Amino acid sequence: MAEEVYRPGLEGVIATETAISFLDVEREEIVVRGYNLLDLARERTYVDVVGLLIDGRLPDDQERAVLERRLLAAAEVPAQIWEILRLLPPRMHAMDRLRTAISTLGGFDPGVERVDPEQDRESGLRIVAQAATIVANLVRVREGQQPLAPDPSRSFPANFLWMITGRDGSPAEVRVFDQALIAYSEHELPNSTFAARVIASTLADVYGALTGAVASLKGPLHGGANEAVMAMLLEAGDEEGIERWIRERLARKERIMGFGHRVYMRRMDPRAQLLKETLTRLVAERGDAEGQKLLRMCERAERLMHAEKGLYPNLDYYAAPVFYVLGIPIELYTPIFFAARTAGLVAHVVEQHAHNRLFRPRVRYTGPRGLKPA
Ligand code: SDX
Repeated sequence: MAEEVYRPGLEGVIATETAISFLDVEREEIVVRGYNLLDLARERTYVDVVGLLIDGRLPDDQERAVLERRLLAAAEVPAQIWEILRLLPPRMHAMDRLRTAISTLGGFDPGVERVDPEQDRESGLRIVAQAATIVANLVRVREGQQPLAPDPSRSFPANFLWMITGRDGSPAEVRVFDQALIAYSEHELPNSTFAARVIASTLADVYGALTGAVASLKGPLHGGANEAVMAMLLEAGDEEGIERWIRERLARKERIMGFGHRVYMRRMDPRAQLLKETLTRLVAERGDAEGQKLLRMCERAERLMHAEKGLYPNLDYYAAPVFYVLGIPIELYTPIFFAARTAGLVAHVVEQHAHNRLFRPRVRYTGPRGLKPA
């Protein structure tokens, strides 16, 4: 019996049950398997959160060390992946290249045809590890350079940041990057996670589910916003410029990337607050004049958007300047979002396969009836 629950964009509709995460907007808490995501970002590492999400339990120090070694040992990417990426048209967006790579990875996983939670976890950890290596090398390979192979002597975040920038980050920079990975790791049922669950519910494999998630995440209304925020800041140039830039576009009824959120509506995304604090600390510690100017621009725009539209920043808004001061190429911002989110996506695929029911909603039909083909 189809129950009439129709909301455009499924706004506010409960689409599934999950033990993985929940956005408690009232209490401004992002709950991840019982923990507050911001506590995890402040006190733990991304590898801890990978263990919590995929194995279902926060690892102790020894278990985390074992998991980190396992991820780094699995981070090598088959050479054919680089060959396929080199065949793609140079103008192709980094997220579309990533989509091809994730899809192809499945062909190199002997367990891909087995669709069960244990295999999902095994394949999922490989994807978490290999997605970082692929993302870090997307620009290098497109420009015909040799990819940087993962260096297992480094920590997971230090290796990921080193592969991206080609230089060693300071401990403070690696810590900031690790926090950003945690902030991006899991967020209940965004469009890309929903896409992954819908695909997994046909018992399609984890690679297919995550390929769909990459396609969704590229959209400017979703993950693509972090790149757009950085482009806005660079084009605006300074505090007066960002005010002018935003006013011009609001006058044309355009959206300002990095603001607003379907669930947070008229509240600050707690992750944005975390990364704003992180950015403030990083640019102060480094005495980074350009970073301090970016921070002032962001704060000016924040005040303006609140005054004009009653809107608050979301995660992507402050993630952009954080990635910029870390020296990360702008076209890798959304791919990094995906790489970090693989931990949450895999957890959702495992859960969907473990307690599956095919997603197959109904429609409210608004078209004609009774037409005759003759
Ligand atoms: C992510 O779901 C998740 O959790 C996603 C994410 C995750 O971790 O996975 O949090 C990551 O995707 C963050 C969002 C990144 N996207 C952006 O920053 C793009 C800009 N934001 C918007 O396009 C918008 O806010 C959405 C898409 C995020 C939410 O849109 P909704 O819920 O569909 O809201 P809406 O489009 O109905 O807007 C409601 C009103 C409208 O005004 P009116 O037409 O009613 O007068 O708010 C306005 C909108 O015009 N509005 C904006 C705006 N966002 C909403 N106006 C200007 N700029 C904006 N950014």
